[in-house]
Amino acid sequence: MDKYKEIAQHIKEKGYVVAFTGAGISVDSGIPAFRGGQGLWEKYDPMEYAHISSFKRNPEKVWVMLREMAEVIFNSSPSPAHLTLGELEKKGFLKAVITQNVDGLHQLAGNTNVIEYHGNHRWLVCINCSKRVPFEPEVIKITPYPRCERCDEALKPDVVFFGEGIPMREMIRAHDEVSRCKVMFVIGTSGVVYPAADIPYQAKSKGALIVEINIDSTPFTHSITDYFLQGTASEILPNILKYLE
Ligand code: APR
Repeated sequence: MDKYKEIAQHIKEKGYVVAFTGAGISVDSGIPAFRGGQGLWEKYDPMEYAHISSFKRNPEKVWVMLREMAEVIFNSSPSPAHLTLGELEKKGFLKAVITQNVDGLHQLAGNTNVIEYHGNHRWLVCINCSKRVPFEPEVIKITPYPRCERCDEALKPDVVFFGEGIPMREMIRAHDEVSRCKVMFVIGTSGVVYPAADIPYQAKSKGALIVEINIDSTPFTHSITDYFLQGTASEILPNILKYLE
């Protein structure tokens, strides 16, 4: 029996599927990943552009990168991989998506229980008074950077910068899903950023089957992964869905 069929069999038998996703699943939507070849961190030093202290020190400079990210995100649409996860939820297999991505593409693909561990780039929040407003596309044109209408301080996308904590609500929701998870898809993540990268290990320790989809191996591959499917998420996921129609 081929691997895809075996995995589909496990899904039918074990039932509670959770997907843990990273930037790799959105590469097929035209959004560059952070690490590796064309990664965003090859162009922008994350310590200068993605640390909350850098933002507070020089919001104008960081907004140069944020504007570029927003353009790409606003012009992106779900990949075949995102759409397949939407289908798996519709069919009752996929119960939650825990994502490190901030592009909102899982929701656009139809998934309704999405835990955004690193926030969402389609909202803005004030660094001073925490007022939260939608990130309207025209905000991209505001220079040097958008300001809070209430206190006039700098607005930032409602995403978790290095040096910031994970939103408590998302942390609790993710913990709850991990405790119920019987099969975890680990899709398109390098597994190097904590505490997010601890999630597959937690699932494994609770007895979940780990199905990893990536173009390269990661720290998960030779430690907790039960099935390693090497290739792009958009090629691989539809092959599994075929056996669950
Ligand atoms: N299909 C599947 N996997 C892919 C694809 C693809 N088409 N393209 C790239 N990948 C894999 C890469 O091999 C790599 O393992 O996706 C992973 C992307 O890794 P990162 O760029 O490190 O992204 P991620 O793991 O999501 O980063 C975690 O780091 O910078 C922070 O907050 C940021 O949420 C991000 C976190």
